[in-house]
Amino acid sequence: MSMTTRRGLFLTFEGLDGCGKTTQMRMLAERLRAAGDTVIETAEPGGTDIGGAIRRILLDPANHHLSPTAEMLLYFAARAQNVDEIVTPATARGEIVLCDRWTDSTWAYQGYGRALGVDVIRTLDRIACRGRQPDLTLWIDVDLETSLGRAKSRNVQEDSADTRMDDQSRAFYERVLQGYQALEAEEPGRVVRVDGRGDLETVAGRVWQVFHDYRELHV
Ligand code: TYD
Repeated sequence: MSMTTRRGLFLTFEGLDGCGKTTQMRMLAERLRAAGDTVIETAEPGGTDIGGAIRRILLDPANHHLSPTAEMLLYFAARAQNVDEIVTPATARGEIVLCDRWTDSTWAYQGYGRALGVDVIRTLDRIACRGRQPDLTLWIDVDLETSLGRAKSRNVQEDSADTRMDDQSRAFYERVLQGYQALEAEEPGRVVRVDGRGDLETVAGRVWQVFHDYRELHV
């Protein structure tokens, strides 16, 4: 493939709150940039101005009465905007887009966590994303204790108020984790589990290996 027809890549990072995916995504972005790639970083919910406004509705603890279906549709509304504003244009330019969470989060948190089921998630993904799926998804897997412990200490350290999502029960997060496990079983070609235990550099090494293997095979 010549340089001018270089194909863009769309990679997503997934996992429980506090799994370390945001840091790992940043580290991968730096490494790719150092190697000469053009990398765009984005996040869900958010990533665009409109997505940011939707994110504030979703995470505001005052909106505790937000209905599960409205919540699900808001996540997809933010995503539809992200597809049009960021993901499609950047990959068309041959760039690498890294996104912190994508439809797999809605699958795990709303489909499993809120028990809305996965059929509705698949249907809405087709409408919102119009066939745009991540080329590769890195699921940073940590156990529930690690996740809940890190998420809590982060709120204390940053002196930030808990968000609406932090109010969820342990049973909710158990279902979310089951959702990620089911996803990996369902789409083993796209979704790769990365062991999230260990120090940052160790996990970053695993992430790099998965990315490297993918690129060797596909690009
Ligand atoms: P995020 O900003 O990634 O927080 P963190 O860095 O703590 O993982 O996500 C915010 C919350 O939104 C998080 O609890 C997961 C939740 N979420 C969903 O429930 N469904 C979704 O589709 C997405 C994208 C996020």
